[in-house]
Amino acid sequence: MPDNKKAEIIYDYSGLLVAEDAPALERDTALLPSDLHWLVPRLEAAREQLLADANAWKAGAPVPPEKQPFDAGFFELPERLLSQDRPVVAQVAQAAQRLANAVDRVVVLGIGGSYMGARALMEACCHPFHNDLPRQRRGQRPRMYFEGNNVDSDAMRGLLDLLEAADDWGLVVISKSGGTLETAVAFRVFLQALRHACGNDQEKLRQRIVAITGQTGKLRSLVDRLGLAGNQVFDIPDGVGGRFSVFTPVGLLPAAIVGLDIAALLEGAAAMNQRFRSAQAMECPPLAYAGMSHLMELRRGATIRVLATWGKRLEAVGLWYDQLLAESLGKQGVGATPLTVVNTRDLHSRGQQHQEGRRDKLITNLYVEQCQREPLRIEQWQTDEDGLNKYAGKTVADVLAAAFTGTNQAYAADGRRTATIRLPRLDEFALGQLLQMLMIATVIEGKLIGINPYGQPGVEAYKQRMVAILQR
Ligand code: PA5
Repeated sequence: MPDNKKAEIIYDYSGLLVAEDAPALERDTALLPSDLHWLVPRLEAAREQLLADANAWKAGAPVPPEKQPFDAGFFELPERLLSQDRPVVAQVAQAAQRLANAVDRVVVLGIGGSYMGARALMEACCHPFHNDLPRQRRGQRPRMYFEGNNVDSDAMRGLLDLLEAADDWGLVVISKSGGTLETAVAFRVFLQALRHACGNDQEKLRQRIVAITGQTGKLRSLVDRLGLAGNQVFDIPDGVGGRFSVFTPVGLLPAAIVGLDIAALLEGAAAMNQRFRSAQAMECPPLAYAGMSHLMELRRGATIRVLATWGKRLEAVGLWYDQLLAESLGKQGVGATPLTVVNTRDLHSRGQQHQEGRRDKLITNLYVEQCQREPLRIEQWQTDEDGLNKYAGKTVADVLAAAFTGTNQAYAADGRRTATIRLPRLDEFALGQLLQMLMIATVIEGKLIGINPYGQPGVEAYKQRMVAILQR
């Protein structure tokens, strides 16, 4: 097998383009070369703006009111963490190792951007049954659970049941604002349980908690009162919003706890930045992806953006992206609606609609080229009741590939357009590229449609009412 550990991910949009003289069904549903002539200068301008924003953030330049909130700090995080901020990566690794040495289960408390990236990384890169394996098969890394992302009493009790039997667990609490009610309620509940499990030993308790939060706020005050210090507490840098924070301790610490290679993640993200800076617009994955998706919405009415993941392990990446796109661009009455599907599973639930329903969707496949392990093979049997002998010798990966190709052919035959993001393999380097690509693309699209991708002012409406109701 070729060594493609550092291979680049590819955005293939050939399925969205047809010639100017193509038959009507094709021209009406796909984009034309003339559309690209319109698009490219706009993408170039958006790239310049993003790079200028990142430079302004780095220089600490004053931010004009119309650009507030301004969270352009995410862009250069990977390079900074691989150079001048390398000590932060070392501290994250130390904290992860300390927890791994002390406990066998870690509960990560956080909501939205404060947990979705970590979950995406774990599901994509860990063993699919990480939590169920014996510790030795987990590389001596702890199991990981996510809470504080809801207020479901029975679900919380269920997790407490699991933890109650043992005293070998710890907590990572993540909240940038430090005031998110869901996470705060969960922290109070789980902190109390952990205190009990530690027999009220304050030092033991401190050894089992890591907090990741902004420099001020309620969680910061609580952390100070608990006496957490050193690598028991990490800052979320200013100028990095929640859903753009996966390459801060928010994503890196949980990833390191479950044994992922966080340097490779950052290297992947930095490699994507390099392509973003230098590649021609339509050969640059974040630019081409943002541009084609935007044009399909603007000119072909594809307001629903389906991310069709293939295989089982990218669903949480899709949910992370759903949040990124929805919270960033769903403002002022605009913004495409994201939808994650998992194929072939969802071909049996949504496939009908995607093949024959309303023509309002752009499907972008997320496809991994190579299995991590030797693919399972269909055996030849002496009897053939299930009729599978004709496929004997083919692998399960061949079946997935056939479903992928067949689905895209069937969609194309009816003018249902698909593009594909191809990952050479499912590992930290590829995930680093992918997440950075999608964050950059979201900001670029914000610039194309005149929406500030940072902040989520609309979410305040439910929070204010919830708090008012609770105070009655
Ligand atoms: O992307 C965002 O900023 C949000 O989804 C936040 O991450 C989410 O609301 C949680 O906020 P906090 O980290 O302040 O608890």
